Amino acid sequence: MAVLKNGTELLTNIIASQINSHKRFGGVVPEVASRHHVEQITACIDEALVQAGISAEDLNAVAVTQGPGLVGALLIGIMAAKTFAWAHHLPLIPVNHMAGHMMAAALVDKIEYPAMALLVSGGHSELVYVEKEGSYKKVGETRDDAAGEAYDKVGRVMGLTYPSGKAIDELAHKGKDTYHFPRAMMSTHEIEFSFSGLKSAFINTVHNAEQKGEDLVKDDLDNLAASFQTAVLDVLIGKTKLALEKYPVKTLIVGGGVSANQGLRERLANEITEAKVIVPPLRLCGDNAGMIAAAAYIEMKKENYAGLDLNAKPSLVF
Ligand code: KG4
Ligand code: ZN
Repeated sequence: MAVLKNGTELLTNIIASQINSHKRFGGVVPEVASRHHVEQITACIDEALVQAGISAEDLNAVAVTQGPGLVGALLIGIMAAKTFAWAHHLPLIPVNHMAGHMMAAALVDKIEYPAMALLVSGGHSELVYVEKEGSYKKVGETRDDAAGEAYDKVGRVMGLTYPSGKAIDELAHKGKDTYHFPRAMMSTHEIEFSFSGLKSAFINTVHNAEQKGEDLVKDDLDNLAASFQTAVLDVLIGKTKLALEKYPVKTLIVGGGVSANQGLRERLANEITEAKVIVPPLRLCGDNAGMIAAAAYIEMKKENYAGLDLNAKPSLVF
């Protein structure tokens, strides 16, 4: 729950994480996620207003994520936002979760348009061309797994707890790319990602070694992590460069949980010369309400409001 002032000033940005409840299942359990949302949401609304030092009457609008995401969790946010908007006579603004990841950048720097956004999260890997503020056009995406999903699946084989992106990132910095896993679709001139082949190659390497009596996860974890991460980053950087070649822009925005990756941040800084790069600070990379408010501000200027019949769209796309 966040309170945003004048489009860029976050008065508060509360994150009620439920990762601990999902860890032992190795991924998010939808029913558990919904129940936690119900338990937390009212307290979060109250706490956000207290932290921001305002009352509901001071607000101009209420924004909420419409999708993409788990329908049960989305519905709880939407019900709470509708109720709040109705009770306090406020306009209601539906927001695309991925536009939120993109607009986290607006909270820390000035985005000059046209812009390109590399959005990499647990559910999505996509490149979005933003000709002007609020006009989004997806120009490339993953054919199969998202980058974050690949991190989490490979992490499971490595015996790491969910979500494992951060842990793999840390291990990777201690190792080298000794396994040379495949980089999918790098020879095509299409702006498309694919990470499922890399995931399978990783799992097969570990299992084949196991059959020969070797335990790579125990003996060579750093190099496994470095090899996996280098393959992911080669593809992310390569395809981003291709997108920047096809669509010249002034700003490259990077967003989503995987944008917290230190390896990715280093390579963006060293290898992207085509545009100014904005990568939000770590606190704004993962899911948070501040980014949703930032994306909503653009819609508010256009009075893109929803009625109380607003419904969740679990598969919402740009
Ligand atoms: O955007 P996000 O918080 O939630 C979704 O909308 O999916 O992204 C979560 C994803 C997880 O897959 C997690 O493993 C990944 O972001 N992640 C990372 C890092 N930190 C989080 N992946 C790579 N390196 C990291 N440092
Ligand atoms: Zn997200």
